[in-house]
Amino acid sequence: MTDIRKDDRLKGKVAIVTGAGSRAEGIGNGRATAVILARHGAKVTLVDTVAQWAEETRRLIEADSGVCQIVEGDVSDPAACHNIVARTVEAWGRLDILVNNVGLAGPRGNAIEVDVEAWDQAMRVNVTSMMLMAKAAIPEMLKNGGGSIINLSSVAGLQGGHPSLLYPTSKGAIVALTRAMASHHGRDGIRVNCIAPGTVYTPMVASRGMTPELRKARRERTLLGTEGTGWDIGYGALYLASEESRWVTGITLPIDGGATAGARSSPVPPSEPDKG
Ligand SMILES: NC(=O)c1ccc[n+]([C@@H]2O[C@H](COP(=O)([O-])OP(=O)(O)OC[C@H]3O[C@@H](n4cnc5c(N)ncnc54)[C@H](O)[C@@H]3O)[C@@H](O)[C@H]2O)c1
Repeated sequence: MTDIRKDDRLKGKVAIVTGAGSRAEGIGNGRATAVILARHGAKVTLVDTVAQWAEETRRLIEADSGVCQIVEGDVSDPAACHNIVARTVEAWGRLDILVNNVGLAGPRGNAIEVDVEAWDQAMRVNVTSMMLMAKAAIPEMLKNGGGSIINLSSVAGLQGGHPSLLYPTSKGAIVALTRAMASHHGRDGIRVNCIAPGTVYTPMVASRGMTPELRKARRERTLLGTEGTGWDIGYGALYLASEESRWVTGITLPIDGGATAGARSSPVPPSEPDKG
């Protein structure tokens, strides 16, 4: 595990992280976020469709004297979302932070190729689930005078060039959903922000079978020339969850090694002076 500095900036706060497990060994964005929030004092409900996949997250948190519980549930199901929130409030009496992390790659293909049923299903998991969790969570946040909601988009939702249509469409919708929710609930003290991870190396990516060459090409697309991890995403969530970001709402924070800032410029050869 990366060296996570510990402080109690989230002491007394209660959080839900959806998709807090991982299909394989390693550190996904949800797992890292849950561990970092707990490390900074929050009590955390770990949500996953497969409770077993959240066990390793629980182990990491409890090994560090953090407090968490696992609630199994599918966030595309409204009843499950209500149960997740109810179980959280039952355990710790309040809700302050919701991290909508669940997201799938979804069906491949362009508009001609993509399977329509698979499209509807993936839009429900990637986008509708965030509304459903917010619908259940916001009334509880209002009881404490506000809260922080953090939605996981992707740089694929900010730029063109993705080979499939579903994934960037759903991730772009999350940016718009974030802005709209920020304007609806800001006066009630609820901040809504979005993180757009770049090409971080997580179990989700590894499970698709990534060659060393492809990993190198992904690193090269960043301005820093390095690979991101789930911890980088988790630290962004920590900032957006805590009081340090009290005047921040409606934003999309790319965490991408600079990939969306532009391509790295090539050095100008000495024989060709830069004419501006
Ligand atoms: N890894 C990357 O490079 C990358 C890049 C950009 C954006 N993202 C985004 O980050 C988020 C997830 O990252 P991760 O690394 O935690 O992924 P992950 O694949 O490790 O998934 C985390 C967990 O979500 C659970 N899950 C899936 N569908 C669910 C549902 N309907 N209800 C409840 N749980 C469900 C899975 O069982 C899994 O354990 C996604 O929104 C993804 O689009 C990832």
